[in-house]
Amino acid sequence: MRAIALTEYGEPDVLTTHSLPEPLVCYDQVLIDVHGAGVNPVDTKIRQGFLQQLIPNNIPLIPGWEVAGIVAKVGTAVTQFRAGDKVYGYIRKDHIQDGAYAEQVAADELVLAHAPSSLDLVHAAALPLAGLTALQALQAAQVSQDDVVLIHAAAGGVGHLAIQLARILGARVIGTASERNHEYLRALGAEPLRYGPELPNELKTLIGPATKVDAVLDLVGGEALEQSLGLVSTPGRLVSIVDGTRVRELGGIHVFVRHGAEQLSWLGELIDKGELKLEVQHVFPLEEAAQAHRVLEEGHTRGKIVLKVR
Ligand SMILES: NC(=O)c1ccc[n+]([C@@H]2O[C@H](COP(=O)([O-])OP(=O)(O)OC[C@H]3O[C@@H](n4cnc5c(N)ncnc54)[C@H](OP(=O)(O)O)[C@@H]3O)[C@@H](O)[C@H]2O)c1
Repeated sequence: MRAIALTEYGEPDVLTTHSLPEPLVCYDQVLIDVHGAGVNPVDTKIRQGFLQQLIPNNIPLIPGWEVAGIVAKVGTAVTQFRAGDKVYGYIRKDHIQDGAYAEQVAADELVLAHAPSSLDLVHAAALPLAGLTALQALQAAQVSQDDVVLIHAAAGGVGHLAIQLARILGARVIGTASERNHEYLRALGAEPLRYGPELPNELKTLIGPATKVDAVLDLVGGEALEQSLGLVSTPGRLVSIVDGTRVRELGGIHVFVRHGAEQLSWLGELIDKGELKLEVQHVFPLEEAAQAHRVLEEGHTRGKIVLKVR
């Protein structure tokens, strides 16, 4: 099969096209004919070799933890899916080697859900990792009705979904983005603010000088995380998906996205009901994975980037 793989870590150019064997399929796995592969910042970190100390890496390494496609074959113990089903999933495994930047990928039945019918399978690939992360971060921050929640990097892959999910939970949402994204944030139901050193003052102007927000989702790290401790009423409701060590030092919570087939089904239902809108800014052909990484690494994607495999 055709796949994008790296044989050494480094700049985007290490992502090149290879002809590799069809993946093996264990009893409880399905083989997916990949239509779309989501491109996420973690893929760029894997490409640079930064996750070698956390998860075993094997070379040649096909990146990609986010997929949508059609089931080609099922293992003998699989009960939820059969050949021909349209599925999507966040397919991180306990090693990094055989990811979704390929014509086929094998994935555990338990991490997949039926893909939303209102999205084509290229765009559907943009939802699983980002959507689960947004939902699990909001849950960790215990966001509910009438809370005021501040979301940093609200126009990005995780952020644009987190805004909408927080609104569905009944929260008032304030999101940070550069000004060119402010109209976009408003359209999603958030009140936009610029990020940077003036953020704490601008937030006070918006919600009142003596008021703090009930919860913060840090999707950036660095300055955004440092500012957040002074902006949230309880450190325990400060959630970072970027800097686990620092957020724990500050008394907050680190969320690292977990598998969640039921949550994925729910996100798909929201999409099909029109209550959750997925933004895909760029679709690149599989062969242009390196260019997709370059664009993502500029750090200003609105919504998501996907690779079109079929
Ligand atoms: N722990 C986990 O499980 C998990 C899961 C998913 C992602 N992550 C991590 O979370 C981070 C965000 O992921 P993502 O997919 O949402 O990234 P992304 O889509 O690449 O984020 C791009 C967005 O970031 C905004 N941005 C850039 N600099 C900013 C700043 N200083 N303050 C506020 N916003 C800023 C940009 O807005 P403007 O263009 O308006 O500047 C852009 O819309 C990444 O570091 C990723 O690795 C962690």
